[in-house]
Amino acid sequence: MRKINIAIDGFSGCGKSSTAKEVARRLGYKFIDSGAMYRAVTLHMLRENIDLSSQALISEALATCQIDFQHNPETGKSETILNGENVEQEIRKMYVSEKVSIVAAVKAVRVAMVAQQQEMGKARGVVMDGRDIASVVFPDAELKVFMKASDKSRAMRRKLELEEKGESPSLEEIMENFQDRDLQDSTRAESPLIQVPEAVVIDTSDLAFEDQVLRVLTLAKEKIEA
Ligand code: DC
Repeated sequence: MRKINIAIDGFSGCGKSSTAKEVARRLGYKFIDSGAMYRAVTLHMLRENIDLSSQALISEALATCQIDFQHNPETGKSETILNGENVEQEIRKMYVSEKVSIVAAVKAVRVAMVAQQQEMGKARGVVMDGRDIASVVFPDAELKVFMKASDKSRAMRRKLELEEKGESPSLEEIMENFQDRDLQDSTRAESPLIQVPEAVVIDTSDLAFEDQVLRVLTLAKEKIEA
């Protein structure tokens, strides 16, 4: 059966990654969390004490930043590796979320990440979620989905995720971080978050997780069989 690429874009906390991951699992496709790559670059910059107000210093520090994904057979999940170290947990923490939109707006960072992402999608059979997947990374993706959800449902979802990881920020803190990032991600000069006209919009505010997955799977099967 022919393989397709599936692009899932949208604002933070709409359930893009969890949906993309499950869709990929059921189709036997590769799941790539592009946000994890920007988070890992950000963690690298923070660890190297790079002055984030300098795009030149961020660009220079990219030379020592190698990002990979590794399958964890115990969890069945793909985990993010930064310079050989598993940083899957660390990159989800609030101190990284607070800086990631600054780093993700730097042109050199985007060029490097997009090149790596396009390479991973070359053989098709990839489900990738992010902000610029349909517009920049895979403009030829057979299926493009734009996910959105109400502020409250997004914040509640993220709060539960963070609590599972031992962090307990308030709903207000999470909402503030989403609003900051949404604004920065959709107004930046370099490949801002946009909804491409051909994208199918899915509002996940009142959808159960299984329904989110089934919607995308149904659309994917139509494209695969087309
Ligand atoms: O999906 P996420 O919330 O983990 O993404 C973290 C940040 O990375 C997000 O605020 C914007 C940036 N990002 C991006 O600029 N382009 C992408 N394709 C994915 C994420």
